[in-house]
Amino acid sequence: MAEVGANTPRHVAIIMDGNGRWAKKRLLPRSAGHRAGVKRMIALTEHVFDTGVRYCTLFALSTENLNRPEEELKGLFGLFREFFASNAETLRKKGISLRVIGDLSLLPADIGTLIRAGEERTAGGERGTLVLAIGYGGRQDILAAANEAVRRGKEVDEETFSSLLRTGDMPAPDLLIRTGKELRISNFLLWQCAYSEFYFSEKMFPEFTDEDFDEALKAYAARDRRFGKL
Ligand code: FPP
Repeated sequence: MAEVGANTPRHVAIIMDGNGRWAKKRLLPRSAGHRAGVKRMIALTEHVFDTGVRYCTLFALSTENLNRPEEELKGLFGLFREFFASNAETLRKKGISLRVIGDLSLLPADIGTLIRAGEERTAGGERGTLVLAIGYGGRQDILAAANEAVRRGKEVDEETFSSLLRTGDMPAPDLLIRTGKELRISNFLLWQCAYSEFYFSEKMFPEFTDEDFDEALKAYAARDRRFGKL
């Protein structure tokens, strides 16, 4: 396991890409890939909080993903229902708070209810915060914050603007990991990742192991973060 130290990121964000390709390679339906992705996600997050990371934000569904075929969305919604109904108590016992960022009005109402119940049940967990981005878009997040600033009728500075985002009370991600070979940010935490370190893995998400995560931490620890300064 990676050593917890000054170079351990406080907040890691992960774009969990490649479930579909993982399934295709095995001649399985895409839904099997998503199911394998959830299984890996649950085991990986357990490991993530053992490394000393305090916030872990996972991209589970973007606003654009909501345009996928109905059949695929139905499968993903089913997985969300299962996850929130059966994992909130386990997370609470482990001291992990669950948070969801995204536009819940884009999801079936019962999922919103399960999410709110899961958040309430796990509130105050001190070991870490697991943030799931569901129905989330970075541009939409920025737009909503900008509109809120306009409503308030006063110019805002960076700090105030950050506090208006859905991640308002969290530190910015130190490390952004993307699995699945693609080298892009796909409308994830656009404002928040201004100075995040990026790490790309060629592995499809269901095969991204705890050891692969440790490799990413090692790479992060070797980076020289200058935040634009010399
Ligand atoms: C992108 O890869 C992944 C998604 C759109 C979904 C990711 C979701 C999970 C891992 C499950 C989340 C579940 C819960 C309960 C929060 P892709 O499947 O589009 O893969 P591809 O790029 O290979 O087609």
